[in-house]
Amino acid sequence: MILPRPILLASSLLAFGMSGLHAQQVSVTVQAGAPGKAISPDLVGIFFEDLSYAADGGLYAELVQNRSFSYTPADNKDWQPLTAWQLVQRDGAQGSLTVETATPLNDHNQAHAVLTVTAPGDGVGLLNEGFDGIALKAGETYNLSLFARQLTGSAAPLSVRLESKTGALLAEATLPAPTTGWQKVSTTLKPATTDADARLVVLATAPGTLALDMVSLFPAKTFRDRPNGLRADLAQVVADLKPKFIRFPGGCLVHGDGVDNIYHWKNTIGPVEQRKGQPNIWRYHQTVGLGYFEYFQFCEDIGAKPLPVVAAGVCCQNSNHSRGTGQQGLPLDAMPAYIQDVLDLIEYANGPVTSTWGSKRAAAGHPAPFGLRYLGVGNEDKITPVFKERFRMIYEAVKARHPEITVVGTSGPFPEGPDYAQGWKFANELRLPMVDEHGYKSPQWFWDNLQRYDRYDRSKSKVYLGEWAAHDHKRRSTLRSAIAEAAYLTALERNGDIVSFSSYAPLLAKRRHTHWSPNLIYFNNTDVFPTINYHVQQLFSVNSGDTYLTTTISATATPATFAASSIRDSKTGDLILKLVNGTDSAKPVRIELAGAKNLPATATATVLAGNDANVVNDGRPPAVWPRTASITIAPAFDYEASANSLTVIRINTR
Ligand code: AHR
Repeated sequence: MILPRPILLASSLLAFGMSGLHAQQVSVTVQAGAPGKAISPDLVGIFFEDLSYAADGGLYAELVQNRSFSYTPADNKDWQPLTAWQLVQRDGAQGSLTVETATPLNDHNQAHAVLTVTAPGDGVGLLNEGFDGIALKAGETYNLSLFARQLTGSAAPLSVRLESKTGALLAEATLPAPTTGWQKVSTTLKPATTDADARLVVLATAPGTLALDMVSLFPAKTFRDRPNGLRADLAQVVADLKPKFIRFPGGCLVHGDGVDNIYHWKNTIGPVEQRKGQPNIWRYHQTVGLGYFEYFQFCEDIGAKPLPVVAAGVCCQNSNHSRGTGQQGLPLDAMPAYIQDVLDLIEYANGPVTSTWGSKRAAAGHPAPFGLRYLGVGNEDKITPVFKERFRMIYEAVKARHPEITVVGTSGPFPEGPDYAQGWKFANELRLPMVDEHGYKSPQWFWDNLQRYDRYDRSKSKVYLGEWAAHDHKRRSTLRSAIAEAAYLTALERNGDIVSFSSYAPLLAKRRHTHWSPNLIYFNNTDVFPTINYHVQQLFSVNSGDTYLTTTISATATPATFAASSIRDSKTGDLILKLVNGTDSAKPVRIELAGAKNLPATATATVLAGNDANVVNDGRPPAVWPRTASITIAPAFDYEASANSLTVIRINTR
């Protein structure tokens, strides 16, 4: 055992260089020869919510905004059914554009455009401006489809064009003349030039009236080439996190702005034109084109366990803020149907193709089960009698019918306080298998609370830290926040026997449409900007393990500024040591790998570090980036942890 060495020897000072002159050495001892304790191998995952245009206008690859003319002031007070659309009248043409509901495509999709061509000229039509424009790449294929119906007059082929903002033609194709009943028509377009701010134009050239709906433009290349798929570059950056699970589809979006706005998974499956979109609690519109099938498929595509969340039969306690209605429960006589929906979700994910809901999964192209094992019920709800009554009903039904499903309960929006206390009391009463905790706090809070989970009762529910992030000054993504998160992650690893999952929140935010800060990944229509915090999550995720090795730190300061954890990954046999230095100066570290066997002479050290903890990375090119190098190691060796750094030392012991 190495004794604490609070005072650094002069010879070591020289070895650490000038930056170590005033820094006190710390000793880290890893019980590398001991069996250690089993921890969750799935500690780091992601939480996805359609917030800040994360889905519509973001990960969901649809390029047409308001494709079904469904926007209303209920989505956003400034919106109406023709938001993002314009009437175009080319070269002497005359006509009009309205949105009507007289001849709907189906019950869920009532609104549609009606285009009247009085004088055809060079075409009367409609133009879509996309989500901040349509980003096109030269030589790529784009799939255009729409539903059309000729209402009056003689039908003629429709012209579809991709144009620059100033009207220059980028690509053009023709669609067959509309029929008198609704018919889906499609074509492909291949622009010759790249344009980050293009428009889609659909033109009619014969006098008469026609109805149009579900005007859609997708890049042919989506993530894993899935139809109705995800934006490839953005999905790849998410996949590169190697998340062990995905919690979806939210957040506040799940329990909704009032009981009528609760998210119902059944509205989000099947042909996209039959899905039922609704106002997004974050004041825009959710098409639910990215729906439950696509979520499950994405989980499978990236090897993440699905963790869907359903509302606990109550809406968000902050609902209808101005009217102050707050949390409300579904009427009790509506609960049996709601509970059946929850049970049907499990059947949709896991049931045989011969079952009612399993057959719908198969019809969507996935006969094999999705392997659902976890289900969140509730999202940081206020723990009231109304909530508890409904939660208990859902939980007991799921437990009785599906004992194989781990239900994850909720403990309010904060990591302390009345809802936290009541949420845990209720979880203990019900003997819930797992509880979702949320915590958005200052970087210092995370440093001050590194021992939080050491104190948790191991006989009680497991923890899912479902939403968390260090909120620094002005809620920017600073190096300070990322390093505080790294320190906290070492504490989560140490407590991986009780903390099963964790997910930073929120995951995605589109520049110019950011409703919440900070976020893990920023993006616009053409680029993706992972933050420093992203690299921290990724370093813990790709360097995960299943056994925690007792790790002791000497000479700890109060408040803490240094953290460490060590784990073993049984798949590779690697021993992985993480060191976090939260000070502005380099820290000399004496590392002892007590009892380690088969130690090689070298290991890889990946370092994320910067001299200035205030450095911000929230969408500009990254200022701080992890770098990997080989280092020499021994059963006991010296290492210098850079200022404001996370170091991951990976040692192959096989
Ligand atoms: O992550 C953003 C929001 O924070 C979530 O929707 C909600 O659960 C929490 O309040």
